[in-house]
Amino acid sequence: MKNSEDEQKEEFLREFGDDYGYKSAPKNIDQLRATEFKRLAGVVYLDHAGATLYSEAQLESVFKDLNSNLYANPHSQSSCSLNTSDRVGEARTQVLDYFNASSREYSVIFTSGATAALKLVGESFPWSSQSCFMYSMENHNSVLGIREYALNQGAAALAVDVEQTADYRNSRGTNSAIRLFRHHELRRSDRGLSKEDPTGNVYNLFAFPSECNFSGTRFNLDLVKLIKEDSHNALEGSTYSRGCWMVLIDAAKGGATEPPDLSKHKADFVVISFYKIFGYPTGLGALIVRNETAKLLKKTYFSGGTVAASVADSDFVKRRAGVEEIFEDGTISYLSIASILHGFRILNTLTMSAISRHTTSLATFVRKTLSAMKHENGTHVCTLYGANSSKVLFEGMGPIVSFNLRRPDGSWFGYREVEKLASLAGIQLRTGCFCNPGACAKYLGLSHSDLLSNFEAGHVCWDDHDVLCGKPTGAVRASFGYMSTFEDASNFVNFIKASFVSLPSRTPGVNTLRGTTISPAIEGIGRANPRLKSISIYPIKSCLGFSVSSWPLTTTGRLLHDREWLLRSTSGEILTQKKVPDMCHITTLIDLDLGILFVESPRCKEKLQIKLKSDFPVGKDEVNIHPQRYEVEVYHDEIDSWFSDAVGRPCTLLRCSGQQGYACSNRNRISRLCKDLETKMNFVNEAQFLLVSEESVNDLNARLRSNVQHHFDGELIQVSTSRFRPNLVVCGGEAYAEDGWRSLRIGKTEFISLGGCNRCQMINLSFQGGKVQRSNEPLATLAEYRRTKGKITFGILLRHDDSTGKHSDAWLHVGEEIRASLA
Ligand SMILES: Cc1ncc(COP(=O)(O)O)c(C=O)c1O
Repeated sequence: MKNSEDEQKEEFLREFGDDYGYKSAPKNIDQLRATEFKRLAGVVYLDHAGATLYSEAQLESVFKDLNSNLYANPHSQSSCSLNTSDRVGEARTQVLDYFNASSREYSVIFTSGATAALKLVGESFPWSSQSCFMYSMENHNSVLGIREYALNQGAAALAVDVEQTADYRNSRGTNSAIRLFRHHELRRSDRGLSKEDPTGNVYNLFAFPSECNFSGTRFNLDLVKLIKEDSHNALEGSTYSRGCWMVLIDAAKGGATEPPDLSKHKADFVVISFYKIFGYPTGLGALIVRNETAKLLKKTYFSGGTVAASVADSDFVKRRAGVEEIFEDGTISYLSIASILHGFRILNTLTMSAISRHTTSLATFVRKTLSAMKHENGTHVCTLYGANSSKVLFEGMGPIVSFNLRRPDGSWFGYREVEKLASLAGIQLRTGCFCNPGACAKYLGLSHSDLLSNFEAGHVCWDDHDVLCGKPTGAVRASFGYMSTFEDASNFVNFIKASFVSLPSRTPGVNTLRGTTISPAIEGIGRANPRLKSISIYPIKSCLGFSVSSWPLTTTGRLLHDREWLLRSTSGEILTQKKVPDMCHITTLIDLDLGILFVESPRCKEKLQIKLKSDFPVGKDEVNIHPQRYEVEVYHDEIDSWFSDAVGRPCTLLRCSGQQGYACSNRNRISRLCKDLETKMNFVNEAQFLLVSEESVNDLNARLRSNVQHHFDGELIQVSTSRFRPNLVVCGGEAYAEDGWRSLRIGKTEFISLGGCNRCQMINLSFQGGKVQRSNEPLATLAEYRRTKGKITFGILLRHDDSTGKHSDAWLHVGEEIRASLA
């Protein structure tokens, strides 16, 4: 009997069979994946817009080439240098062929990437105060950055919305399908007096992407002709229509599957990065420039490579004449340039038209499946970006699917939650704004004031604030490459369905945290009377802690010396195990009677002893750990060099000596950053105490065992309570009873629960045989039953309740009874 996956594939092939799979290539998609991309086994890689992947055959032929040929600096005149120049020449011809460009009309300038090519255009463009830099709203930041050069020269910068009808492919040549809508002109008032071009000519630049890296929308390349030949109509007679218009196509994304045809669309500039086309090498891109246009560019710097003659102590320089020779400063990256020939060879055997059809078929399948997904109450799960209406949904789109997901009540799932769960399921995605702020604002409906208030609230690129004021701040992006398969696409849509679609029997992301426990009963301990099983202190943030049977609280109600020290790198970064896993080998112990903190590391022969009182630090400083600012004390060099050896990088030990109030660098503190903003704390992340229940850990272990037996092939992982770095472990109650506690008393000390502790990949790190091991567990299993409102929680955060005024001289003792009041 066929299973549903086979049926799904059959249905897909019925619709897309002609386009999918490279049937006429030497290897079809399944053979290609099995032989050339073995490293993708068990991984669904869907971030080809970020970087696509190189094939094994490509790298083998690169190594064979480099190992069998003698390549030398092409600026020398030896025969191996000439050999290098020939290969570089071949590579230039291949790049031109890729874009169907003639060498009579175009030149290839190698750069370190698309961004460097864009910067080169910005800095050498003949700007004057009459010029205009116009760009589509949907553009990468690396394109927007050109406006700094324009504005600094007194030129105007102007964003436009480009509206194109859905069937623009059929209306090519008429231009009637394209309209431009201008935003406000930008100009720097103090730069209005910049010099005119000596010839009296005015040069303007228009930049747009061939494919938007946010939404996948492909731009109508007739824009080139429209702007270059009919700017008067396109700009409706505005003052910007005067002068000569140059056009730049950013093909960094689109160039990977549908390179612009420069014989038809004679743009002045095209920029690319090669790792986006065939994965290897990184650090190499190109500016493809029209020879006529190159003559107008103004190059200031000269260097080895671009100079024909210069005099050291006189203002004399004669530059070289060829386009590449003027712009390629220094020694070009000739080994990388030789390597691109092997990348192009792979693409050429498949053909670009087959690659375009193959990748489009996958993206269209995903778009269709996502747009049809509904919750049990009939509401749509997915909001897709880049499609204006269902009629035009799949027209003119590249192999990118950008979207956000909603819950049945219409609220948004945060994109970070989607990314986190996808990663646990072995699916690699990209989330956020993808460096394309205009497209992001347009598709997410974010106004200028939304963007500014998000920034004020502390949201910056690459952070975790995925939903602010009820609106997403970015999106989820799945993107396909030439080696993507139907199985990648179907695994992805099946994951979305399983994790985010609410069915009659299940509401994802709103599960009741406790669920049905499957932990075995703990013998000998009455369930009604949980007790304190252990107390752990972690003196140095992110290093190992130690357990004690009794420990005092400070007058501000925290565990004495807990997270009182931290390590800071020379660049000011706070070191944690996330970045420096070796910190997990540093053990700590405090002897209160001796007044000494003992520290040991396998990398240091000597055990370090820091006297708590008399070894007092030598100076004062401040550190910011968002959202708080701390006063700290620093130690003498010997202690710092011990820790630098222990973590294998230069660092300093800092001891918290006080908090400067609750300084917050953003006005509208984002409360989830730190659950406990009211209490005096040391260098803890969220709250004074973290409590974990032994029964909950047992239940988790039972689930991990059952998952290995029933679903997964993976190795069995069992975790101890220490995996969660708790201060307090309780035992003797029911698993997850702690979720329901509002407040509790341990012995005579009162605590308030601040709710569940949100878990991240840190709990998936373990340390075996001196090495850090990473896996998906236990977070993947926790995600199945402990996911609520975008968080996967385990254990609870506590604050000492100082309203009773009983905190001085309080001690906690192992064995003390826990009396909890329920929420
Ligand atoms: C459309 C677009 N333009 C420009 C760039 C910048 O390319 P690079 O970082 O390779 O210089 C990117 C990279 O993601 C892109 O997608």
